[in-house]
Amino acid sequence: MNTPRYFALIPAAGVGTRLGATIPKQYMQLAGQPMLAHVLTTFAAASLISHVFVVVSADDGYIADLMAAAPHLQGRVTVLFHGGASRQESVLNGLQAIRQQVDEEDWILVHDAARPGLTQSLIQHLITTLGGDLVGGLLALPVVDTLKRGDQNARVAQTVERAALWAAQTPQMFRYSLLTRALILADAVTDEAGAVELLGLQPRLVEGSPRNFKVTLPHDVALAEMFLKE
Ligand code: C5P
Repeated sequence: MNTPRYFALIPAAGVGTRLGATIPKQYMQLAGQPMLAHVLTTFAAASLISHVFVVVSADDGYIADLMAAAPHLQGRVTVLFHGGASRQESVLNGLQAIRQQVDEEDWILVHDAARPGLTQSLIQHLITTLGGDLVGGLLALPVVDTLKRGDQNARVAQTVERAALWAAQTPQMFRYSLLTRALILADAVTDEAGAVELLGLQPRLVEGSPRNFKVTLPHDVALAEMFLKE
């Protein structure tokens, strides 16, 4: 059997309207580059990653310019015009599109285009922690705030015990065959781990970093730029 390889798969087919910009979130300028370019550059420079795949929508009008402006991504990144109606669908379409290029046991690291703060050391930490794992896992952060469940009037219905709670990040890393099977069977999950959990498996939680947060709202932009300019 071949030694398993590691591939990055970046779903980037969302429309991301919450930031209020007129262009999709992943193409917003952040510290002088489109958000997606930061993520692609980080994975392309990671020596443990064999190749990077990015899934965009079939009518994407931005990726060609991004790639043309980034010669260092040539040969390291392949664009797949197979985006779906949900993140889950985009990831699954991407997995099916690369079937001929990967082995069943190769690892796939799925990472949000909207988490530009990912670093080489986080990728390495995830891969070295999970390399021998039977299931796979994800970067995540232990929850430090006290959590409240609210009712429809924004009144506290319940305080949620925070011990043992983690906030899921990406990359989420699973073997190609397991991840594909899990996503085919799952119905509307918001991350890959959720699909794998539905198979009765327990993905491993690997401590990530606050800088790997998901850029979602307008005030996130300044914070993301601060980390990127560090
Ligand atoms: O919208 P949200 O920030 O949750 O999206 C997470 C990631 O999933 C983003 O990289 C986004 O581009 C991607 N996505 C996708 N296809 C969709 C919806 C979201 O690839 N239909």
